[in-house]
Amino acid sequence: MTTTDAALRQKIADRIRNYEHLVKKDVYRQHFHLMPPVGLLNDPNGLIQWKGIYHVFYQWQPFKTGHGAKFWGHYTSTDLVNWQHEEAALAPSDWFDQNGCYSGSAFIEGGQMHVMYTGNVRDEQGNRETYQCLAVSEDGIHFEKKGVVATLPEGFTAHFRDPKVWKRNGRWYMILGAQSLDLKGHLVLFTSDTLDNWTFQGTIAGSGKNGLDNFGYMWECPDLFELDGRDVLIVSPQGLEPDGLKYHNTHQSGYFVGTLDDHSYQYTHGAFEELDRGFDFYAQQTFLDESGRRLLIGWMGVPDQGEEHHPTISYQWIHCLTIPRELRLDEDGHLIQKPVSELQSMRTNEQEHVFHIKRSVHSIPVEDITSAEVFIDQIDTQKGFECCIRAAARIIYDKEEGKLTLERDRFEDRSKEVREALIEELHDLHIFIDSSSIEIFVNGGREVFTARYFPSPGNKSISISGRNETKLKLKTWHLQREANR
Ligand code: FRU
Repeated sequence: MTTTDAALRQKIADRIRNYEHLVKKDVYRQHFHLMPPVGLLNDPNGLIQWKGIYHVFYQWQPFKTGHGAKFWGHYTSTDLVNWQHEEAALAPSDWFDQNGCYSGSAFIEGGQMHVMYTGNVRDEQGNRETYQCLAVSEDGIHFEKKGVVATLPEGFTAHFRDPKVWKRNGRWYMILGAQSLDLKGHLVLFTSDTLDNWTFQGTIAGSGKNGLDNFGYMWECPDLFELDGRDVLIVSPQGLEPDGLKYHNTHQSGYFVGTLDDHSYQYTHGAFEELDRGFDFYAQQTFLDESGRRLLIGWMGVPDQGEEHHPTISYQWIHCLTIPRELRLDEDGHLIQKPVSELQSMRTNEQEHVFHIKRSVHSIPVEDITSAEVFIDQIDTQKGFECCIRAAARIIYDKEEGKLTLERDRFEDRSKEVREALIEELHDLHIFIDSSSIEIFVNGGREVFTARYFPSPGNKSISISGRNETKLKLKTWHLQREANR
């Protein structure tokens, strides 16, 4: 924030202080996921590692638990496990971002951290305007806004946002999610040599290209990067209709594997694959860390999906981010997500069990189910098995149908809802359980199910039961950050 924002900074500090006590009383406060200290969090922004320090910025509305004029909140870490909350990096305080410093990305140039973000503006009639804006920092903490560097080209509505910037062959690339005047979602590209002056290169993917006929009415939060020799595009399209087991959330998130041509500026790609098969995953972003890993963090939420029913609202906060995940492409071009290895530093109290189950229910001993990691492998089952977590979520493997299901209690009325994926053969399940979330990595991260859940605080049980005869090995850990030991 610029120095003129001192008053705003004070207002945020007061807000955090006034609500700290209430927020901390919430049993659904997470142990190892990033949350807002107060208010609403959505997309991760500006993910970067610089001089050894990981920076996670995020869309933040500190003054209420609804959306609105977003700030960029900010966390830093040296190990992706222990995080420090910093002062807000950007405030919606200028004419070009007065209704929100919307999502964007970070990069380093000339020894300074740069962030490119979308300035969201509503005119007097309430019409939306959009500006792509640059801000620069010497220390990665204090930012100076440089203002608008790219404006809306012809042919698009003002749903034109979320710049992801990177350097490729000595030139700056900036992709954005966009909506054409006929209300279809697209990916657009700008290029630049100087960062303050951008050339619009047009639409490079989206509805009408690569055999995608009508693929959503808006594409949000795009990210394009090289991974294992291919160009991977990750994007959050809005408005895909449910299709079999796919697309059951209000809005989707997925990826394409393809090639970006640096002369024609066209991106050719294969089929869209969902990134996550659970309930709460959206607006993810990736970055290359200093050790060369491609890491991803997502928002553990989806826009317009029952936010009013989250019980944490009574404690003046809502939403969290996912754990960081390392990405790889396997030989058949399938994206693999693995929890970063740093998370293993939280492990304590390791226990190992071999279960032989015959229709019976076995309780799994864990020290504290509100902060646990469970790894199941050596699975030998006739018909399948299920794992029930705090009576609020069930993971069901149906071997005959070749299907994995995550069932949870609906937030509004505790009736059941499911998300499902076809899993031909289940080899392993790697589960991270926090106070109010579950992340399930299936078969070494080939599929992931991410979900919030709000179990009865008194229920601390986790059990496993067979549909017939099942043998499996199970390891559990209690997860605890150093700071809390
Ligand atoms: C995605 C999104 C982005 C936008 C931001 C605003 O969740 O709608 O497109 O920049 O959130 O908070």
